[in-house]
Amino acid sequence: MYILGINAYHGDAAAALIKDGRLVAAVEEERFNRIKHSAGFPVKSIEYCLSAAGIGIDDVDHVGISRDPSAHLHKKVLVAAQRAAKQMVGSQYHLRERVGPTGKPAVEHAPENADRMSALPASNGNGSGVLRQVADRLRNAARVGDLGVELANALNVSPSDIRAKSHKIEHHRAHLASSFFVSPFERAALLSLDGFGDFISTMWGLGEGNSIEVLGQVEYPHSLGIVYTATTQFLGFPHYGDEAKVMGLAPYGRPRFIKAFRDIVRTEKDGQFRLNLDYFRHAAEGVDMTWNEGSPVIGKIYSDEYASAFGAPRRAHGELTDRDRDLAASLQLRLEEVAFHILNHLYRETGLSALGLAGGVAYNSVMNGKILLNTPFRNVFIQPAAGDSGTALGVCYQIWNQLLRQSRGEVMEGSYTGPEFKDEEIVTDLKQSGLKFETYTDRDVTKRAARDIAGGAVVGWFQGRLEFGPRALGNRSIIVDPRRADMKDILNERIKKREPFRPFAPSILAEQVGEYFEQTHPAPTMLMVYKIKPERCTEIPAVTHVDGSGRLQTVSREVNPRYYRLIEDFYKLTGVPLVLNTSFNENEPIVCTPRDAIDCFLKTRIDVLYLGNHVVRRN
Ligand SMILES: [Fe+2]
Repeated sequence: MYILGINAYHGDAAAALIKDGRLVAAVEEERFNRIKHSAGFPVKSIEYCLSAAGIGIDDVDHVGISRDPSAHLHKKVLVAAQRAAKQMVGSQYHLRERVGPTGKPAVEHAPENADRMSALPASNGNGSGVLRQVADRLRNAARVGDLGVELANALNVSPSDIRAKSHKIEHHRAHLASSFFVSPFERAALLSLDGFGDFISTMWGLGEGNSIEVLGQVEYPHSLGIVYTATTQFLGFPHYGDEAKVMGLAPYGRPRFIKAFRDIVRTEKDGQFRLNLDYFRHAAEGVDMTWNEGSPVIGKIYSDEYASAFGAPRRAHGELTDRDRDLAASLQLRLEEVAFHILNHLYRETGLSALGLAGGVAYNSVMNGKILLNTPFRNVFIQPAAGDSGTALGVCYQIWNQLLRQSRGEVMEGSYTGPEFKDEEIVTDLKQSGLKFETYTDRDVTKRAARDIAGGAVVGWFQGRLEFGPRALGNRSIIVDPRRADMKDILNERIKKREPFRPFAPSILAEQVGEYFEQTHPAPTMLMVYKIKPERCTEIPAVTHVDGSGRLQTVSREVNPRYYRLIEDFYKLTGVPLVLNTSFNENEPIVCTPRDAIDCFLKTRIDVLYLGNHVVRRN
């Protein structure tokens, strides 16, 4: 039985395919169309998944999408009407919503586009806005209802060729499914944290065998993801996905604004939290969002209250001040406090020490790395595409395990579920490029690459299947020597052009983690930041952040034998069991094809390019 899962009209559009419960393929659309975080409908990803399985769309038995406009529909329509009505009143009397003494707003509001597929202007403040919003919601529901038709159009086949049964899986249920059904746990507490999806920003539950029970949720507009994105915008980083920059900036500051952030996000009993909506525009005014083809665009979320509290917003590319760094530190601290507040409640509710985590906020690897230190959880599983692309995977398993009651069997240990290329294809592309290349044996290729890295070269490393999720985990990576303090600057100057405050990350042999890090819990998907042992920091300066931490990838022989051998060969040469690993790209999505890798090599100043066993050296 084949099940196709889709994330569409959200950031990081993606598709995943499973056969009889086994994961066959999963990939993000951005890797094909070369548009970062591409939204829209993931037609190329779907085509790839089908080709990886050697099937046509008519062979697929079930297809699902990770959104369900009918979920909470009555509430959405109700609050849309309330909001429009309030705007009418507000336009006459210039009323402004305030958060009451309980922390609860007098009126709750619909997310203008929280479950929308395209941008909508805010209501014009007359009664037609109510009707328009209701109509939009119904139209939206109908559009997702026609998933089979949409799929047929995208694949250029007749709708009668689609015999698959269609499913709409609520966004956070898809996140939770992705955090549990491919985890190694038989029972686990589960948490999904993001900006929003289907009117919800946070959902938690209990996974057991082939089913998940939802235990609690936080409704939009209250959202940790929104707070992080709003502050990221205020700090002059306007692009979708820029939150990672603020996380990297945070250790440079002091959390001297923590009191204000405790007012911006207020914790309540039973794991709940609420935003002080004075600080935000999304609830009262709506925010323009674009989820069509292209990178997602999100309009300004923070309100003038931010400037009242913190001064003028930083301009994009403006100078970074102590104020900015301290804001980042305060935001990060508050995120962690609230996340641990939810997690500690979840532990009390479930009594389980195993945790599955998902949602865009689960990309906050600094927060993740502190979970074991601040909660009773002892085992944490975060699948590599924890954000919205991973909901495509979650959809597949929500259908297979939860809806069809099939037993579990897949444990996702790596992220290597994307396209791979035959040796002949690589050779053809190399010949077409006109570049001179050598070919090594399997055994020699890692030895030679290790020698290049230890000799100070910047090495492009392209092997096997493309990774799913934002992290390059040793198949589409640029690798350099972590011992060289100048490597960060070299990478930035020659290739990455990133802000100088952002750290680079290490890949370390799994057995050696305790030699270099204060914590040893596996981090195979590079989604945990741990403190580096103080005595080791000067040994590996290129991967040591300003606060002595590192966002590590633990590499095991079983999951990626070739990458493991490369690091092992580097260890034999240098006595250091880790390398610096950054994604193979310039300032675009991670390379997918050999041709993409060759183009990146030609555009940048990578010294040596390894494509499988073939090696190109820059003269
Ligand atoms: Fe999400």
